[in-house]
Amino acid sequence: MNETIYMSIGGLPALAVASLVVIKPTRPATLAALGWLASIGRRVWWWLVLRVTWKAVAREAGLSKRRTKRVKRMGVGEESIEKWRDPRLKRVKPSAHSVTLKVRTRRGQALADLEAFAPKLAATYSADAYRVYPPKRRAGSTVMFELVMRDLIKTPSVAAMPEPRMQTESVRLGRRQSGKPFDLQIEQRHTLVVGASGAGKGSFLWGVVGSLAPAIAVDAVRAYGIDLKGGMELTMGAPLFTKIAVKGEQAVEMLREFVGIADERTEAMRGHSRNHKPGPGDPLYLLVIDELASLTAYADNETKKEAERLLKRLLSIGRAVGVVVVAFVQDPRKEVIDMRGLFTQTIALRLRSAMETNMVLGDGMAPFAPAHRILKGAQGTAWIIDEDGSTDRIRADYWSDELIRRIASLYPADPTAAPGAIAPEPPALGGAA
Ligand SMILES: Nc1ncnc2c1ncn2[C@@H]1O[C@H](COP(=O)(O)OP(=O)(O)OP(=O)(O)O)[C@@H](O)[C@H]1O
Ligand SMILES: [Mg+2]
Repeated sequence: MNETIYMSIGGLPALAVASLVVIKPTRPATLAALGWLASIGRRVWWWLVLRVTWKAVAREAGLSKRRTKRVKRMGVGEESIEKWRDPRLKRVKPSAHSVTLKVRTRRGQALADLEAFAPKLAATYSADAYRVYPPKRRAGSTVMFELVMRDLIKTPSVAAMPEPRMQTESVRLGRRQSGKPFDLQIEQRHTLVVGASGAGKGSFLWGVVGSLAPAIAVDAVRAYGIDLKGGMELTMGAPLFTKIAVKGEQAVEMLREFVGIADERTEAMRGHSRNHKPGPGDPLYLLVIDELASLTAYADNETKKEAERLLKRLLSIGRAVGVVVVAFVQDPRKEVIDMRGLFTQTIALRLRSAMETNMVLGDGMAPFAPAHRILKGAQGTAWIIDEDGSTDRIRADYWSDELIRRIASLYPADPTAAPGAIAPEPPALGGAA
């Protein structure tokens, strides 16, 4: 019976579609009304299924506890009665695409046991994805599960031209799995983006640099780039960058310059302000590193050591003084993971194993932010950890080469802004290290 109910959780919407076919509505108003009815029906159905099957699912998943009590009955002698203790389903809230459950631990149960139940719950109800997060109240004993029944970020969306206004605090990168927009904070943050080859790191890179273009044009942001893969990626939008380093020595030089800027700013700001606020002429320095591993793993020993030392220093001192790093990497190897703690936010695109997910997002995170389960065809999809510690799945908008070139020609960086630039011109690809 329960199996039938779980399997048929999507049955009602199918019924609604069937009724549309039978009724053959032609007027838009009728169509809208039927769509609305189907949506209401779906929510009621989800609510019912969850309420009816909750205890059985919790018991089968090993979340509940059975106690056998022996009681004395007059005339019968001793009798045993079975009693279950289940985690309490406090609320079921369906929306147009998902169902949110609020669950309280049973007596003697750890919150972590309940949280670890999320993958089983999602599989039981055939959810496309799930999310676990703390509620606003009673976060010590209660947990929220969001089961995504219809994946709103399954289809990719394309980035649009950024609005022509100076924006430095955060950038709009794409959508959350709830369909709401996803903004990434840039000021006061160092960002690490990890994802296998072809996972869509480029969408994040251009989402950051392209969205900051209007600020770059008025010198409120100065973007510098390190691209030791021959400048393949960054050259596309070269005019947006004040400098691009394509060789190991240039990269080390650039890191040294960044540490110098951060030191100077720290000195100048000491006693006046604790956080730098960028503006035209007093820019946010943004260092974009495509393939961090090429700097810390593949380069020759001397370059590697110096680069690592400088980068670690930059990551420790730059954030508050308006010198931030956004780094991209394919492979969470040891050298990169050593530095992970110095980055203040991490984005995990498609990874190759649960072990990699744990290495990137933190020990034990694989069940809550399963980046290794992202499909190959869902490029630009990633898991993040929000400020409150909860996880969320996001998808970045796709940036076409043409859009990048258009933005770069519309909002080029001021070439006079950085005296002594290494490579203000697009570097020749042949000059790669
Ligand atoms: N947000 C997106 N939505 C849909 N498709 C995308 C998105 N981002 C990238 N793609 C597709 O995936 C392909 C690979 O993306 P991208 O070059 O950004 O990967 P990458 O992670 O940078 O890989 P590598 O590490 O090899 O450079 C792109 O050519 C594009 O077709
Ligand atoms: Mg790339």
